[in-house]
Amino acid sequence: MTTPLLEVSALEAGYDDALILRGVDLAADAEQIVAIVGPNGAGKSTLLKAVYGLVRARAGSVRFDGEDVTGVRADRLTRRGMNLVPQVDNVFPTLTIAENLHVGALVLPRAERQAEIVRVLELFPLLAERHRQRAGSLSGGQRKLVALARALVARPRLLLLDEPSAGLSPIAIDLVFEKLVEIRSLGIAIVIVEQNARRALALADIGYVLDTGRNAYSGPGRTLLDDPRVVDLYLGGSRSGTIASSSTSTSTPSGMNPAT
Ligand SMILES: Nc1ncnc2c1ncn2[C@@H]1O[C@H](COP(=O)(O)OP(=O)(O)OP(=O)(O)O)[C@@H](O)[C@H]1O
Ligand SMILES: [Mg+2]
Repeated sequence: MTTPLLEVSALEAGYDDALILRGVDLAADAEQIVAIVGPNGAGKSTLLKAVYGLVRARAGSVRFDGEDVTGVRADRLTRRGMNLVPQVDNVFPTLTIAENLHVGALVLPRAERQAEIVRVLELFPLLAERHRQRAGSLSGGQRKLVALARALVARPRLLLLDEPSAGLSPIAIDLVFEKLVEIRSLGIAIVIVEQNARRALALADIGYVLDTGRNAYSGPGRTLLDDPRVVDLYLGGSRSGTIASSSTSTSTPSGMNPAT
C-alpha cells in the first residue's frame, strides 16, 4: 500500500478555549479531488487552516509526502508543495493579474519565476489576455481564477481550496470546477471545502462529511451522494438522481445549501 500524499490523523485543533476539530482523519492522493462538506461551523475551514499550519494542532498529526509536517509554518509548507487558497482576500485587488502571479511565484528561485508564470497563464487564457488588468477590476469568477493561478505558480503538489464557488454565478462556478478537473489531471491533489455539497461530491474522488469537528461519513463522492443518510442529514433530503429537480435555494436545517 502506498502512503497518501496528505494524511491527517486524529487531528485536534481550535481557538483559545474552543476545541473545534475533535479527532479528524483525512487522506488525499496525487491526482485526486477530495471534497470536505458539512454544516456551517462544522470545522471545515479550521481543518484546512490546521493542515496548512495557520491553526495550531493540539493533538494528532499531519503528514505530507511521507513526512510529519504537523506545526510546520504555512510559508514553509508552500515551499514544500502545499498551498492554500482561502475563501476571501485571496487576491491583491490593486495589483495586476501578472503582479498577483508574481507574488505567488516569490517562493520559487528567482530564475524560475517568469517561466512558471508563463506556464500557468497558458492554463488560463482568459487571464493571459488581461494580464495587465488590475485584479480588483475583474468579475468574482475571474478573481477566483486569479487566486487559483496564483496558488499554482508556486508549483504545488497539493492545493487546499476553501469554498472556491462561493458567491459566483452558475457560469463562473462551471468555469472554476472545470479548472479543478484540469488541475487534477496535471497530477495535483486538490482538497476542496464546499457549501455546494452536491456539486463538490459529484466531482470528488473521495468525500468527507464533517460534523461538529468529527468525521461523520466518508467514501467515494458518488457513494456519499447515493447514501440516504448523507442525503437526508446533509444534502437537504432529495437523492442525487433528482438533483436537476431540486432547484430551490432554500437552506436545509443543517445550514447547507442544497442547490447544485
Ligand atoms: N478565528 C476564530 N476564533 C474563534 N472561533 C472561531 C474562529 N474561526 C472559526 N471559529 C469557530 O470555529 C467553529 C468552526 O468554524 P469553521 O470556520 O472551521 O467552520 P466551517 O465548517 O468552515 O463553517 P462555514 O461552512 O460557515 O464556513 C465555529 O464555531 C466558528 O465560530
Ligand atoms: Mg468555512
